[in-house]
Amino acid sequence: TLQDLDQLKQAAALKAVDYVKDGMVIGLGTGSTAKHMVIALGEKVKAGMTLRGVPTSQETAALARQSGITLIDTENRWDIDVAIDGADQVDPAFNLIKGGGGALLKEKIVAASARQFIVLVDHTKRVPALGGTFPLPIEVVPFGWGSTAREIERLTKSRVVLRERQGNPFRTEAGNLIVDAHIDRIDRPEELESALNLIPGVVETGLFVGRTDILIVGTPQGVDVQYA
Ligand code: A5P
Repeated sequence: TLQDLDQLKQAAALKAVDYVKDGMVIGLGTGSTAKHMVIALGEKVKAGMTLRGVPTSQETAALARQSGITLIDTENRWDIDVAIDGADQVDPAFNLIKGGGGALLKEKIVAASARQFIVLVDHTKRVPALGGTFPLPIEVVPFGWGSTAREIERLTKSRVVLRERQGNPFRTEAGNLIVDAHIDRIDRPEELESALNLIPGVVETGLFVGRTDILIVGTPQGVDVQYA
C-alpha cells in the first residue's frame, strides 16, 4: 500500500541522516521522500546539531524553516557538503529520472554542486532501464515551447506532453514549463541528456547521469545502502 511505501521512504531518509555531521551545509531535496529527511534533520537540530540548508523548492524551504533548519541565501555562493534527494527511477548504474514534482532544475544545480549526492528511494523505483513506466520531465522556456517540444519529439521519437495542473500549464519556480517525454526505454542516458540540452529552449532535463554517490533503498527486508 501507499502507506507501506511511505514507511520505506522514511526508513531510507532516517538512514541518510547518519551521513550528516555537525556544521554541515545540506542540499535539501524535494518530494515525499525528501520530506522525511528534512523532518529528521530538524530533529537533529533540535538535539543541538548546527546545520544549514539549501532548499530545492519553496515547499522544502517552508518545511525546513518549520523544522528549525537555517536556510542559506540561495542567490549567493554556497558550499554544499552533502545533497540528499529522492528520485522517480533509478537504473543499475544509479542514473536517475527526477522531476516528477517539477523541481528538477534546482535539484540538479544543488546535486551538481554538492561534494556528495545521496539518493533515497523505495525499492519500487529501481528499474532495469530508465523510461517506460515513467515519462522523462524536461523543463523548457515558455517562448516557442511547442517548437521545442517538436524538436524533442524528433530526437526521442516519443510522445511529448505539456504538463498541466488543474487545467492550466504547470509553471516551475523559475517560470518555465515542463514537458513529459514518454520514452519507451532510455538505453544511453548520457547521450540523451547531452542531445536534449543542445535543443534551444530546453532549460534542463530530469536525467541525472553519473551524479549519485550513495543510493539508499527502502525495501520490505530493510534498508539497503549502496556506494556508486
Ligand atoms: C521533484 O521534482 C522530484 O525530482 C522528486 O525528487 C521525485 O519526484 C521523487 O519524489 P517522491 O520522493 O515524492 O517520490
